[in-house]
Amino acid sequence: MYTDPDPNPTLTERPNMKFFVDTAEIDAIRELHELGFVDGVTTNPSLIKKSGRDILEVTKEICDLVEGPVSAEVVATEADAMITEGRRLAEIASNIAVKLPLTWDGLKACNVLTNEGKMVNVTLCFSANQALLAAKAGASFISPFIGRLDDISLDGMELIQDIRTIYDNFGYKTEILAASIRSVNHVQDSALIGADVITAPPEVIKKLVAHPLTDKGLDAFLKDAATAGIKIV
Ligand code: G3P
Repeated sequence: MYTDPDPNPTLTERPNMKFFVDTAEIDAIRELHELGFVDGVTTNPSLIKKSGRDILEVTKEICDLVEGPVSAEVVATEADAMITEGRRLAEIASNIAVKLPLTWDGLKACNVLTNEGKMVNVTLCFSANQALLAAKAGASFISPFIGRLDDISLDGMELIQDIRTIYDNFGYKTEILAASIRSVNHVQDSALIGADVITAPPEVIKKLVAHPLTDKGLDAFLKDAATAGIKIV
């Protein structure tokens, strides 16, 4: 069974908004992992296809690298077959979260797999009612897709807010994993609302550091340091 590690005891008092990386590219995961920014990884069949790797092989490699939850998605659509695939994926490592689509069969499989003690991430969530069902089915994570709602002129952040309200109303422990994140604003808004986790492509996570005034300010400091001949070591 996966148990939340405590990699840095000095940070135990600090609440942690979790950052998952939405990719199956090992090098990109490794780069962010070295900075301590990877609390988990999410994949899906499209990301596996993009990696060009075998799903079992690449997922095992990711699990060897990352201590936190690694979501791996089933491709079956019928509950019994989803359960069989979910069990196979969960054999890869103790930190696998079996990713199941938000369908009736997916919820059936979620019930069974969570009762077996497996982590489940219910994905392709586009409504608060779907998120409510996933929580009742015992999901560890619910993945509402922000960007895909924005794509059709709906409001992805409103969905995150609604799910937060509903889960808090009743104390559901299912973690809100804000997914289909396309911009740094999606990350900031998810944090402001109080999503438990964001999963974002590596490029978006790397963009969080950028600010033109930081670059401009640093440039000025370095020029002054050079003019003044400041040397530290
Ligand atoms: O985590 C789900 C995510 O991969 C979907 O993102 O950009 O394909 O909508 P996107």
